[in-house]
Amino acid sequence: MNTIAASSFFEPQVIADPFDYYRAWLPESPVVQLSEGMFLVLSYEHCAQATGDVETFSNNFQGTLSGAMAEDSDVAAILAEGWPQVDTLLTADPPTHTRFRKLVNLAFSMKRVAAIEEDMRGVVIDLIEKMAEKGHADFVRDFAIPLPVAMIARQIGMTEGDLDKVKCWSDAFVDRLGRMIPKERELECAREVVEFQHFVKAKIDHRRAAQTDDLLSDLVRAEVEGERPLEDAEILSIMQQLMVAGNETTTSALAGGLLQLIENPDQMSKAVSAVDDGNERAIVNLVEEVLRTESPTAGMWRMVRKDTELGGLKISKGAMVQLRYAAANRDPAKYTDPDRFDIERANARSHLAFGKGIHMCVGNMLSRKEMAVAYTELLKRLTDFRVAVGHVPSWPPNMLLRGLTTLPITFRRRA
Ligand code: HEM
Repeated sequence: MNTIAASSFFEPQVIADPFDYYRAWLPESPVVQLSEGMFLVLSYEHCAQATGDVETFSNNFQGTLSGAMAEDSDVAAILAEGWPQVDTLLTADPPTHTRFRKLVNLAFSMKRVAAIEEDMRGVVIDLIEKMAEKGHADFVRDFAIPLPVAMIARQIGMTEGDLDKVKCWSDAFVDRLGRMIPKERELECAREVVEFQHFVKAKIDHRRAAQTDDLLSDLVRAEVEGERPLEDAEILSIMQQLMVAGNETTTSALAGGLLQLIENPDQMSKAVSAVDDGNERAIVNLVEEVLRTESPTAGMWRMVRKDTELGGLKISKGAMVQLRYAAANRDPAKYTDPDRFDIERANARSHLAFGKGIHMCVGNMLSRKEMAVAYTELLKRLTDFRVAVGHVPSWPPNMLLRGLTTLPITFRRRA
């Protein structure tokens, strides 16, 4: 019998360090019941199965979640000064999802990502040079945050001057999503959400008056099924999702991956050799192994639309299910020695860090490219990476996203 209680999963210390929980429960229960009407899907097989059955496992979970965690009236009063949250991508099912997804797919195609690669490399090299001058850095603050913020800001029509605000807004949305925050922070987050909405609404109006060449203009111009233009609330929802989904996750992957390399010197040597040999395929595989082991989007909700059965458990209509991608990515039935960080792992790319099926991450090519360019240029230019003496890495509790908030490091320039 398991010594870790199934229901303990959302306790802050377990959610911050869930690996013992995964190790204890995965081999015996692919799906775990946490409480009445709430389940956790741990195994690779069953996470993949649920993502493929959108009729049963709905992404339209926002309403159910906010019903279960009723909005505080002070928070609601602040949010009323902005626009209502409408379901577009992550929280929509077909056919609504299909319409919006088509609109954003183009903006994140391989072609678009390839077109911005050189620009991206420039941003990466700039950030490295700034760190190199000092010989030490907080890798999260000085590199892993600004890189994705700069890349996504360009896509959604923000300028250099807006970058600090983009990070604040993105943090506010993430904190609201994970909901393990005190009331003061809830109020602050609600104010940030409304500020973001008014800021983007001004940009929307600007683009209605004069088109520019960016994703925001594309959305303002777009017509849903050739019938009607997008409403402000719909554009705001898409923008918000791109900003939130694209920032924190990529930051976590970049920082978590560097920490893994530092903690596994044999893997660091292999990565450095790959960079020196110009072996791009090896770097691509390193990126996949980082995504597998870090899984920044550790879990994602589904709302059960009809009575069903998963992993031997009966699940009733109306239940909430969390697909725990981070656990699936360490499922021993799929990955040999799953907790080992192995940049040569043959099946690393099969991970579910970006989900699977119709909701699979629209920004996956962008973040994969950011990671590959970042690790290549970092290892080409710097060496002898160490975590600053006395620093113990820690992860704040969040129900869905997992990532370092700080990573003080030291290093030297390569000769
Ligand atoms: C390492 C970085 C990233 C990780 C780990 C990640 C992870 C994920 C996952 C797991 C999903 C699927 C959620 C589900 O199953 O319901 C998802 C969806 C999504 N991601 Fe990402 N993501 C990352 C980067 C990005 C970037 C850079 C962007 C955009 C610029 C982005 C935008 C989105 C959007 C809009 C969705 C919703 C797609 C839909 O429902 O059709 N993500 N992401």
